[in-house]
Amino acid sequence: MDFLCIQGGGRLSGEVHISGSKNAALPLLGVTLLGKNDIHIHNLPQVVDIQTFITLLNMLGAKTHFEAGNACINTTSVNQTKAVYDIVRKMRASILVLGPLLARFGHCEVSLPGGCAIGARPVDLHLKALEKMGATIHIESGYIIAKAPQGLKAAEIEFEKITVTGTENIVMAAALARGKTRILNAAREPEVVQLCEVLQESGVQIEGIGSNELIIEGSDRELLNIPSFNVIPDRIEAGTYLCAAAITQSAITLKNICTEHLKAIILKLKEAGFTLYVQEDTISIESLSSIQPFEIITTEYPGFPTDVQAQFMALATQAEGESKIIERLFENRFMHVNELQRMGAKITLDGNCANVHGKTHLLGADVMATDLRASSALVLAALSAKGETRIHRIYHLDRGYEQLEEKLTQLGAKVYRGRE
Ligand code: UD1
Repeated sequence: MDFLCIQGGGRLSGEVHISGSKNAALPLLGVTLLGKNDIHIHNLPQVVDIQTFITLLNMLGAKTHFEAGNACINTTSVNQTKAVYDIVRKMRASILVLGPLLARFGHCEVSLPGGCAIGARPVDLHLKALEKMGATIHIESGYIIAKAPQGLKAAEIEFEKITVTGTENIVMAAALARGKTRILNAAREPEVVQLCEVLQESGVQIEGIGSNELIIEGSDRELLNIPSFNVIPDRIEAGTYLCAAAITQSAITLKNICTEHLKAIILKLKEAGFTLYVQEDTISIESLSSIQPFEIITTEYPGFPTDVQAQFMALATQAEGESKIIERLFENRFMHVNELQRMGAKITLDGNCANVHGKTHLLGADVMATDLRASSALVLAALSAKGETRIHRIYHLDRGYEQLEEKLTQLGAKVYRGRE
């Protein structure tokens, strides 16, 4: 297994190019199951989760070619409708084939994703919504068996809770259903917006894009002609690099970003005292030696994203005073706390609230990556810590960060990958 070794305490400088968004790319790979043409996707991040999704499409019978961030996918040859456990257990987002497969073929079997490090994360809302669209669903031997032999029909769906992949699954299902589906309490994340825009460019009529109410007119199982597109920049990767600069008192510039998607993150950094220079697709952060403590409450977009909560917790260890971090979306997303404590962080936990007592001088240590974003918090802490940190189990990082060591090295960090 690979580990990452970081020699901390240095400053970063220069520019970093932000990759395409993993979380936008996954549903966009799912949407290829609704297409009848060669679909060209650009700016795909070269990370393990994307590779896993492409493997899943291949297992279903699709023809795929993926090289240097560009993919060409044709799913007309798909002749399997089963997403097997071996793939789904590696990546929960495999659930994103459920809506498209069911809408197109009238049946499918998708392994239940099960629990994961950051909490139970059920898919009950996806299933309830598909049932409202006429599907019969039962669980057998760990698989979701979904059937709709006459195709899915439009429905009015109100999500009890905002769910990102739930909204994406239903948007894709609705695109091939019969009639107009109305989704209330829909997720408004930029990744959902891009999915809707690509469907719209493929001829699907969608009203309310970017709002919490979507109306989608389905094609009644007619496959779509999907035009080529570029995946939007990864706002979470961008947030992580901004924190990397912030925690090391460095000035860096991020290229290929969408500042609109970073508003909540920029606002929080400004509250902590940072100066940022924002242009349409570039952002620069100035170095700051005395960070103000801050308060974070994670919420759905456009609120503060849960996917950068861990990175901001690492940053809070360097603030002058007590910061408060409240995690509202996932019940167990504080796995990084123990590991940060091993490096000297002073954090007290009270349910879903973490109080971070800064400023502490972190010391390099052996730490364990537990999930994707928790791992990036450890990278940030390691960059600011004195001495050497070894982060074990970095396969989590490889799932979502493209060329992490290369990008950090280019910024001047002392990082190398080893094998144990
Ligand atoms: C997506 C993102 C993930 C991000 C999360 C929240 C992808 C691939 N992943 O995950 O990085 O952290 O949004 O922004 O895009 N819930 C239910 N029942 C359901 C579905 C969700 O109870 O059927 C709950 C979840 O347990 C969680 C909350 O709803 O507490 C939000 O989860 P959801 O938005 O669905 O997260 P994901 O789509 O899995």
